[in-house]
Amino acid sequence: MNVLVPGGAGYIGSHAVKQLIESGHKVVVLDNLRRGHGQAVHPDADFHEVDLADTPVVTDLLREYAVDCVMHFAALAYVGESVADPLAYYHNNTAGTISLLRAMDAAGVRRMVFSSTCATYGEPEQTPIVETMAQNPINPYGWSKWCVERILRDYGAANRDFAFAALRYFNVAGCAADGSLGEDHDPETHLIPVVLRAALGQRSAISVFGTDYPTPDGTCIRDYVHVEDLCDAHIVTMKALQPGESRFYNLGIGKGYSVREVIEAAERVTGTAIPVEYGPRRPGDPAVLFADATKVRQELGWRARYTDLDAIVATAWNWFRNHPRGYQE
Ligand SMILES: NC(=O)c1ccc[n+]([C@@H]2O[C@H](COP(=O)([O-])OP(=O)(O)OC[C@H]3O[C@@H](n4cnc5c(N)ncnc54)[C@H](O)[C@@H]3O)[C@@H](O)[C@H]2O)c1
Repeated sequence: MNVLVPGGAGYIGSHAVKQLIESGHKVVVLDNLRRGHGQAVHPDADFHEVDLADTPVVTDLLREYAVDCVMHFAALAYVGESVADPLAYYHNNTAGTISLLRAMDAAGVRRMVFSSTCATYGEPEQTPIVETMAQNPINPYGWSKWCVERILRDYGAANRDFAFAALRYFNVAGCAADGSLGEDHDPETHLIPVVLRAALGQRSAISVFGTDYPTPDGTCIRDYVHVEDLCDAHIVTMKALQPGESRFYNLGIGKGYSVREVIEAAERVTGTAIPVEYGPRRPGDPAVLFADATKVRQELGWRARYTDLDAIVATAWNWFRNHPRGYQE
């Protein structure tokens, strides 16, 4: 297929581009490089530095490359930033996706796989989280993605040949097993890279927020899904989508690891003691979040191959120790 990948210079998008190319698809990347890295884009992909908001240019690209499917990763994705500047998030993530859908409409492109998030569930009433549970985001980032899911449902209802999937990711982690791609965010807020930067001596300590949660070791539990497994799920989903379908899937391993377990895994993998500072809980951090990923397994046969935390951390460490300055190296 011919696939347009908005956000293909970012962490997850760049891995998806690589895997799409390796599985024989033709890829066009669209990214404004606000948060991404040109060096992360696979050399066999055509790259265009374009913003989602530029509807006419996006329309031209969709036509020029006879795009069959849009795999849409482009978004701003910091919860704290979204609380401080909600308009930026609704503008970029929600209105940006409307612009992209207008371009797809004009060019006659009828298939989208969309990066949604478990943040659309907010503080769930129970875990594991199933797709049918109420979605009540607790921050503008989550709402900006929830709005896109709503828009996709309404657009799909009005356009019976349009097909889409909203994939709700849990905590995406790890790096390409061959060491060619990594995670390079500034600032970095994801736990595994933060811990590995501490192991490299780039941070004096890592902060753990809350040790009195009702979990076995008192720290929060999250579901870490390997980026390569996640991207495989996108390709499987893209291939399965039939005209008129809408699919909603949780993407996680279906099991949680605590903050302490992540730190201990990083200490084993790196052979380094990681300094930790313990502080109070942060508002809005649920104790336990992990996916019930039964639906995607039953319907598409996808399941995560990486379920062992040390193995996930090892792929990330392979990148960080060889690229201590990220893509600047
Ligand atoms: N990383 C996670 O754990 C996680 C979890 C749930 C959902 N997600 C979602 O997955 C997607 C990818 O996340 P990531 O961690 O790779 O983020 P990232 O910041 O590394 O990548 C996002 C990319 O989109 C680009 N972009 C943003 N707005 C754009 C616009 N208006 N026009 C063109 N390009 C634009 C950025 O430059 C960047 O390259 C996001 O939609 C995010 O919300 C990520």
